[in-house]
Amino acid sequence: MRPKVLVAHKLLPEAMEFLRERVSFEVGTTRETLAKERLIQKVRNKDGLLSLLVDAIDREVMEAAPHLRIIANCAVGFDNIDIAFARLRGILVTNTPGVLTETTADLTWTLLLAVARRIPEAENFTRAGRFKGWALDLFLGKEVSGKRLGIVGLGRIGRAVAQKAKAFRMEVIYYDPHRLNREEEKNLGVSFLPLDEVLAGSDFITIHASLTPETHHLISTPEFRRMKKEAIFVNAARGPIVDERALVEALQERRIWGAGLDVYEREPEIECELKKFRNVVLLPHIGSATYETRLKMALMAAKNLVQGLNGERPDNLI
Ligand code: DGY
Repeated sequence: MRPKVLVAHKLLPEAMEFLRERVSFEVGTTRETLAKERLIQKVRNKDGLLSLLVDAIDREVMEAAPHLRIIANCAVGFDNIDIAFARLRGILVTNTPGVLTETTADLTWTLLLAVARRIPEAENFTRAGRFKGWALDLFLGKEVSGKRLGIVGLGRIGRAVAQKAKAFRMEVIYYDPHRLNREEEKNLGVSFLPLDEVLAGSDFITIHASLTPETHHLISTPEFRRMKKEAIFVNAARGPIVDERALVEALQERRIWGAGLDVYEREPEIECELKKFRNVVLLPHIGSATYETRLKMALMAAKNLVQGLNGERPDNLI
C-alpha cells in the first residue's frame, strides 16, 4: 500500500505529478492557508506531510498524527515547525536549501535599489501621467555604487548578496555569530565587524539571518538608533527578526532614510503605519518567487518526502 500524504497546499503541476506516481496524497488547500483545526483533521491518518512556511506545525498538530514519519517543508526556513518536538517524536524534518539562494539575493538587491532610486514612487508618478519632462531634481535618490553595505547573517543568501555587491564596487562589512575564515572573507571581499559596528557604519543594511529565539527582534529601537540617518534598511529574511513597531518609529522620527521589506512580523498582516511611508517599499514575501525556483523547491520537498517515507535518509534532513 502506498504511504498516505497530506500536501498542505497544491504544488506546481510537475511536483504534483512526481507525487502522484509515488504516494497516495490529499491536497489540503489550493488557496488560503489551512486553519489549524482543518490541518489537524486532515493530517490525522497521514504518514507524511508536505508543508509550506505558512503552515504552523506545532506539537498539537504532530500529536494529532500518530503515524506521521516525515514533514517535508517547502522552504529553506523552518521556523514554522517545532523541530525539538519532531525530534522527540522521531519525525524527520526536511527543508529546501540551496535552490533559492540566488533568487532571494536578487530580490534583496531589487528591494535595495527600489528604495534607493524611489522606483515605486516614480513609477506611480509616470503611470498617473504626471511626467511633464526631464527635471534636474525629479525623484532624487541615493547613490548605491561605491557605498558600504552591511550584511547581518552571512549564510548562503547573505553570501550571494555580498557576491553581487562586487558589481556595485561596494565595501561589504558583515556580522554573523560564525565568522568566516580569513581566506573565505578575502575571496568574498567582506570584513567582519561586531553587530553594532555593522549597523553604525553601513549605508545599506540587509538582514539574512534565520529566525530563532536568539534573532527574534534582533533589530529593535536601540539598533535603529545606531544606524546612520541616511541608511536604507532591507529585510527579506523573516519578519520577526525586526521589531516592526520600532521600525515604524525609526521611520517616523526620520532616523533612517528608507526601508525595503519582503517579510513581516505578523504575516500576512502588515503594520498599518508602514503603508503610509513613501520611502518604504513593501513586497508580499516573494523572495524566492520565480517559476524556476519555486518548481525546484517543490520538487526538492517532494523528493525529500518520498525518500523519508521509503526509509531512506532524505537529502535535506534538518
Ligand atoms: C524560504 O524558503 O524560507 C523563503 O522564505 C521562501 O521564499
